[in-house]
Amino acid sequence: MDQFSLKGNTAVITGGARGLGFAFAEALAEAGANITILDIGTPQLGSLQTLAMKHSVKLEAYKVDVTSREQVNQVVETIEKEFGSVDVNINAAGVVTDEPFLTTSDKDLSSIFNANFVGSFLVAQACANAMVRKWEKIDKPKPQDAPLIGSIILISSVATHISTMAQQISCYTVSKAAVRGLVKPFAMELAQYGIRVEKTFPDLLKQFNQESMFGRVGEPDELKPAILYLAASTWTTGQDLLVDGGVSSWKHRGNW
Ligand SMILES: NC(=O)c1ccc[n+]([C@@H]2O[C@H](COP(=O)([O-])OP(=O)(O)OC[C@H]3O[C@@H](n4cnc5c(N)ncnc54)[C@H](O)[C@@H]3O)[C@@H](O)[C@H]2O)c1
Repeated sequence: MDQFSLKGNTAVITGGARGLGFAFAEALAEAGANITILDIGTPQLGSLQTLAMKHSVKLEAYKVDVTSREQVNQVVETIEKEFGSVDVNINAAGVVTDEPFLTTSDKDLSSIFNANFVGSFLVAQACANAMVRKWEKIDKPKPQDAPLIGSIILISSVATHISTMAQQISCYTVSKAAVRGLVKPFAMELAQYGIRVEKTFPDLLKQFNQESMFGRVGEPDELKPAILYLAASTWTTGQDLLVDGGVSSWKHRGNW
């Protein structure tokens, strides 16, 4: 459908070397967007070339640690120069450690918080500034007829809504709750520039089958419609989109 076309847009996707981030890259490439991936890891050999050829889009992976302001700012400037603009930003880079709250170390506390929260903050900030530069080039739109300039999507976790007995992830959950906390103030501050901010919860894959209403975990591909909707919608901002197979909506069966 044309409304979901992202042709000519450039997306900055963190954590896109694999997993959900890569599925998001596929979804946006299918919709015609050019894709840039920011990751400390390397995409599977040939995967980006295949995607670029299949959808006739431009694709580039940059080795970047999202916790480094310097690296993030530098790469976003490079992308602006090489691709022309930043139109969509999806923050999927993240880390999780399964460890009891009682013994969580300072080292893990700071590394998880840095990767999940600080990383999302820094990349969203750099991309928002790039989007504002795009807005400034447009012939002084009045606030009421400001065009859609960009979309920023943050990836949180259903763990911030309901705990699972499958994992002990208090530190991760708090870092993702902090990510959720970014959505509404970002949306409020950025609306004047035509930038929308959304969040989604991709907690399908690692949940136990029994916790999902469908009796199975979700697949990365099943998040593509949600990501496409968030990236392309022109009338949604500041929202939480819970894509969790119903995990947080019932008292699921326990193990005993
Ligand atoms: N898979 C799930 O079920 C699930 C559930 C809840 C939330 N999430 C969230 O969704 C996102 C993607 O999950 P996934 O399962 O695909 O994870 P994944 O571990 O497969 O991929 C994460 C990617 O982020 C990259 N990364 C990590 N730290 C980075 C850093 N400092 N700088 C740059 N890149 C970095 C990794 O190299 C990796 O490519 C994460 O934020 C995760 O917390 C996933």
